[in-house]
Amino acid sequence: MKFKRLSDLDLAGRRVFIRADLNVPQDDAHAITDDTRIRASLPAIRHALQAGAAVMVTSHLGRPTEGTVRPEDSLAPIATRLSELLGRPVPLISGWVESGVTVAPGEVVLLENCRCNRGEKKNDEQLSRRMAALCDVYVNDAFGTAHRAEATTHGIAAFAPVACAGPLMAAELDALGKALLQPRRPLLAIVAGSKVSTKLSILKTLAERVDQLIVGGGIANTFLLAAGHPIGKSLAEPDLVDEARAIIALMAGRGASVPLPTDVVVASEFSASAPARTVAAGAVGAADLILDIGPQTAAQFGGLIAQAGTVVWNGPVGVFEFEAFSGGTRALAQAIAASSAFSIAGGGDTLAAIARFGITDRVGYISTGGGAFLEFLEGRTLPAVAALEARA
Ligand code: 3PG
Repeated sequence: MKFKRLSDLDLAGRRVFIRADLNVPQDDAHAITDDTRIRASLPAIRHALQAGAAVMVTSHLGRPTEGTVRPEDSLAPIATRLSELLGRPVPLISGWVESGVTVAPGEVVLLENCRCNRGEKKNDEQLSRRMAALCDVYVNDAFGTAHRAEATTHGIAAFAPVACAGPLMAAELDALGKALLQPRRPLLAIVAGSKVSTKLSILKTLAERVDQLIVGGGIANTFLLAAGHPIGKSLAEPDLVDEARAIIALMAGRGASVPLPTDVVVASEFSASAPARTVAAGAVGAADLILDIGPQTAAQFGGLIAQAGTVVWNGPVGVFEFEAFSGGTRALAQAIAASSAFSIAGGGDTLAAIARFGITDRVGYISTGGGAFLEFLEGRTLPAVAALEARA
């Protein structure tokens, strides 16, 4: 991937338009419940301000209807948080496409929810040109939205005088490239989640590249079924057993493997208080639900992680929110933390598990992307990245 970087440009006196991903979770009163994405966007803003640029920042928030800004669509709470974090005023500008933007060098403004502008989602050329005319330098720092071809993530890049990646975008792409394009081997991936169907293309793409593919959750149940094991009442997709077999065969044909659990933790109902039992993978009863991998499996997978050169992690391997079924995910998290492998993790549940087990500082890179991270794993070209590459 070849693209211009913000850090390589002279920004003094330039009008710099930063497309960030400030799409943060909020409670019913619109209070921000997790500001990770705002914090992750600070380096680009600080860099541009320190270089003497006139800085405009925008983002989407949610999926609003174009042409209106309802109170819940407004970036007002984000402007307040950004102002606290930067320690300076961050005025919020409405109607900025129609009225233009006035901002002096060394100052920063936040442009109201870009997805409220008509034509944003359809990547409208006229809107893209109008936004491009506001700036000298367009910066895409919104990795979390890199899988969307919208006017602020794609169209504008073609018309701005200069288009470059911000430090967050560059760091995400560097980390993903290091993990998947030039990995230190063995390359081990953990892909877990409730359904094979939602991650089938990721599993197929990784099956061609990785040395070990550890599957977890409902995905592992479908693979256990494919391997002829009983899974009782566990969540699985029997119609995808042939796909699972094909992945196992493809991996085996490359001298790679899909190591399946040898023991699992089961219960008779999906509940935090359900008594947990550890049984051999071949001894799951007809009324059992598999809710975690067993300790023997966790130790075996931990050994593979210890020997890996690179680990890509997406998805917890058990119902880690329930203490009795958290052992497998905790063991894998600790193995990743202890491993000398370069590790990269992404996806909402995975980030929650990382936070719960307190290993944030010991993961090589934690992605801010949800859908964008998954689409990169699928081997897809991210439109926003393609747009920057076209201007390199
Ligand atoms: C995300 O939350 O994953 C990104 O901000 C993208 O949001 P979107 O799925 O609404 O495009």
